Amino acid sequence: MSAFKSPFKMGSIELPNNIFYAPLAGCSDYPYRKMTSKYQPGLICCEMVKMDALMRNDPNTFHMLDYDKTMHPISGQLCGSKPAMAGPAARIIEELGFDTVDLNCGCPVDKVTKDGSGSGMLKNPQLIGEVISNMVAAVKIPVTVKIRAGWDETQLNAPLITRIAEEAGAVAICIHGRTRKQGYKGPANWDYIKECKDVARTIKIIGNGDVIDGPSAERMFQHTNCDAVLVARGTMGQPWIVEDIIRYLCGGPEIARTFEERRQVFYEHFLHTVDYHHSRRVAIEMRRVGCWYFKKAAGTRAFREAISRADDPEFVRELILNFPAGDIQDSDSGSEEECCGEE
Ligand SMILES: Cc1cc2nc3c(=O)[nH]c(=O)nc-3n(C[C@H](O)[C@H](O)[C@H](O)COP(=O)(O)O)c2cc1C
Repeated sequence: MSAFKSPFKMGSIELPNNIFYAPLAGCSDYPYRKMTSKYQPGLICCEMVKMDALMRNDPNTFHMLDYDKTMHPISGQLCGSKPAMAGPAARIIEELGFDTVDLNCGCPVDKVTKDGSGSGMLKNPQLIGEVISNMVAAVKIPVTVKIRAGWDETQLNAPLITRIAEEAGAVAICIHGRTRKQGYKGPANWDYIKECKDVARTIKIIGNGDVIDGPSAERMFQHTNCDAVLVARGTMGQPWIVEDIIRYLCGGPEIARTFEERRQVFYEHFLHTVDYHHSRRVAIEMRRVGCWYFKKAAGTRAFREAISRADDPEFVRELILNFPAGDIQDSDSGSEEECCGEE
């Protein structure tokens, strides 16, 4: 039986399916979310925001939480380790109209972990429980948490945290099958996700790490018995990936994505960027996003060089619409490392 579920119940809400799109700092911004929600993943997420920035009414932080009604169901993700702030910050997410609120316990960046936030929380499982309890007490929307396998290979405590999160009232926990020490390098180890599923009673387990297409989503479900999968880097430049995964899991024929279709979707992403950002910002954003759409293509460098000279949206529009397909061929020769930033 397929692990695909539609609808998918998570706590008090019903989501359209159990294939989710991840929070991606610096990437899952408004235009990305406009673009990806069109393909109807079970849940999408904003970039993480800091609890203390919300509490001091930082306008840029509120700006990161902009969304429109086409983007539901949508999750807001909080980063912070102070239990006293967790409830009020979660309430702000709820009052803004988000469908769920998530706690980030995975961000590996030093400036985040040094105050004990992000993956720094993995060193203090009891604190994770306290923060989640306060969020749960403050809101009616479901509370979820996103963790890694552990801080490093000597502290693999994801199953313990799963039990603590469940006790604290979280309805789901997403496990990224890498340690903080690994960052994003090497393959994700899905055994850690399976161990969490084995100890979970009521909490839903969301498997994350290296799900990039239908076959890898199926293997994630089979290997871990997880309830849902979360796709992160696989969504970049492939906002349609949920359709491909669902088609594969349900045994339908593969959907071929031609170069011209990629161009059209990239152009749509450009239009959303023009709608949302000031014109000076559009070209900068498109340098980053264009690379995603053609990252698996020979000829990417020439395209990127051209787009990196762009400083006005009209030049970018021309380039996207007229860049000759013959110069960009689908292949696996592109380097993802060159394109993707990290948390
Ligand atoms: C550029 C980038 C930004 C990310 N930002 C966040 C974030 O804001 N919150 C979070 O919980 N995880 C974040 N992550 C981690 C991803 O959500 C995901 O856990 C990780 O990339 C593994 O999944 P993947 O193998 O499908 O990419 C980020 C990852 C990348 C590459």
